[in-house]
Amino acid sequence: MKFFLDTANIAEIRELSATGLVDGITTNPSLAAKTGRPMTEIIAEICEAVEGPVSAEVLATDTEGMLREAEVLAAIADNVVIKLPLTFDGLKACRKLADKGIKVNVTLCFSAVQALLAAKAGATFVSPFVGRLDDIGHDGMALISDIVEIYRNYPQYTTEVLVASARHPYHVLEAARLGAHVVTLPPATLRQLVKHPLTDSGIAQFLADAEKAGLSIPPRG
Ligand code: E4P
Repeated sequence: MKFFLDTANIAEIRELSATGLVDGITTNPSLAAKTGRPMTEIIAEICEAVEGPVSAEVLATDTEGMLREAEVLAAIADNVVIKLPLTFDGLKACRKLADKGIKVNVTLCFSAVQALLAAKAGATFVSPFVGRLDDIGHDGMALISDIVEIYRNYPQYTTEVLVASARHPYHVLEAARLGAHVVTLPPATLRQLVKHPLTDSGIAQFLADAEKAGLSIPPRG
């Protein structure tokens, strides 16, 4: 399973990429706005910092405008993935970009039939937003289950299910159980994944016992 980081914060990206656990980055206009910097500059910097796919979202809502913006974003680096909204205009632009060999992440997916359309339009990734569905009392992970099942029925679709709007480790656990290809996580959630109180207390106990017994591992000499 691939882990993407859902942020435009370059310091966080650099720090967490150093763990070797980050396979790519997703951004959106809200995340880019938080940096207070020009979008193309941020995307260029992120693309230099990571080898994996970096999703950069268009701002236009019409197909022609999306294609114009996609051209600018795709020219930034080879690992840019164009993020397009799940609308008819977005799907039309997706088909055109996919036909040119440009990777697309179709975002703001909230239903399984929308995900089916994204696959038909040639998306590389589809991003169902689980947290935002949970927020309105729906079951975000049930949507992932439906999409994974539908895509398995049609092996000709190569679109990867990118679980987005994940808010806590349980989303990651469920996404992995269901066989989703990717989950994108805010930096704080990725950090949460490694934490377990028994790991911390176990380390403390081992170190205390080692110190009591005067154990050490001398450098090779
Ligand atoms: C990822 O591609 C999305 O932009 C992101 O996961 C949205 O998360 P949010 O619902 O927490 O804003």
